[in-house]
Amino acid sequence: MKIKSATFHRSAAAIDACPAWDWREFAFVGRSNVGKSSMINKLCGKDHLAKVSALPGKTRLLNFFVMNEAWSLVDLPGYGFAQVTKHQKYDFSVLIKDYLEQRQNLAAVFVLVDSRLPPQRIDVDFVNWLAGCRVPYVLVFTKADKLAPGKVQANISLFQEAVVREQAQPLEVIVSSSKTGSGRIGILKAIERSLQPH
Ligand code: GTP
Ligand code: MG
Repeated sequence: MKIKSATFHRSAAAIDACPAWDWREFAFVGRSNVGKSSMINKLCGKDHLAKVSALPGKTRLLNFFVMNEAWSLVDLPGYGFAQVTKHQKYDFSVLIKDYLEQRQNLAAVFVLVDSRLPPQRIDVDFVNWLAGCRVPYVLVFTKADKLAPGKVQANISLFQEAVVREQAQPLEVIVSSSKTGSGRIGILKAIERSLQPH
């Protein structure tokens, strides 16, 4: 599948401020700084569509992008970012939770996990929580350009073990890098599959 057009539509600070369309949506979620916004830019081939920063906590709202005038990518704020006030942090998690639990046209979620790290409790807990929602999800292990492939695979295996201990369903996994573009095709294929009428 080709992305022929990609435009920013709007940001939303609450579930009732989300666009009213019924286009299928694909959400990018994960810890602050894991590379959600960078991956959205890579998928679209546009460097500055979603705002990227070396400092965690850049994306603070739900950001809606329209693809091919037919479906949507949503850049979510990161979870687990401590450098904000308690009140802000609470708001962020409610925003993520409300969106993932309530958005009717949400087709699939890409959960981004830093491939350089052994399983982090917050990511394992998040995936286990998400498994209780009705929406399908795919794990995307980011920043693979920064580590030897064997080490990436070792961290993925550890993560799968940590999650599978708590849930039975098999996990679809994609290894990615926004620097090299690896994983881009896998993500687009997962979206294409989901967009096909079943
Ligand atoms: P928040 O909006 O703060 O939650 O962060 P985010 O998940 O959107 O991360 P973002 O895309 O802003 O990237 C964070 C930092 O990681 C930036 O400095 C990016 O350039 C860098 N980065 C993202 N993806 C990759 C990658 O695949 N490889 C490398 N080497 N760096 C990356
Ligand atoms: Mg971001």
